Amino acid sequence: MNLPTISAAAIASIACTVLGVGGASAADAKKGQQLFITYGCYACHGYNGQGANVGVKLAPDPMAADALANYIRNSASAMMPPYSEKLVSNADVADIHAWLASQPKLDPKNIPLLKE
Ligand code: HEC
Repeated sequence: MNLPTISAAAIASIACTVLGVGGASAADAKKGQQLFITYGCYACHGYNGQGANVGVKLAPDPMAADALANYIRNSASAMMPPYSEKLVSNADVADIHAWLASQPKLDPKNIPLLKE
């Protein structure tokens, strides 16, 4: 009998229900954050997509997921390279979008140190 495995699956399924995500293809914000770092987006757009010296603000309130994918694939900006689907899959873009959308509004009240 393999009770721990069953329990883990049950917990995962409950977690998915609570978070409102469905099957394996559901966008994963946590993964999106990692991809944002791995693909170097952060270097220009800031660690939280908040915008930086080079890249514009992407979060919170990012553009729609399909517009995001379209921009990434076809960027004609002299500053931002286009990323082909081979490099950044559609599932990756969905994850990145989910993460950008989950970012809190920029507000000094969100800085823990200032609450002390
Ligand atoms: C080398 C710097 C650089 C990197 C790396 C980079 N970007 Fe950009 N990105 C920019 C700049 C600069 C702009 C603004 C382009 C312009 O207005 O010409 C931009 C624009 C965008 C826009 C359009 C924003 C808007 O509101 O018009 C999106 C979306 C975007 N980037 C997403 C990404 C994602 C996702 C990644 C990683 C896969 C990424 N970028 C990597 C520099 C970069």
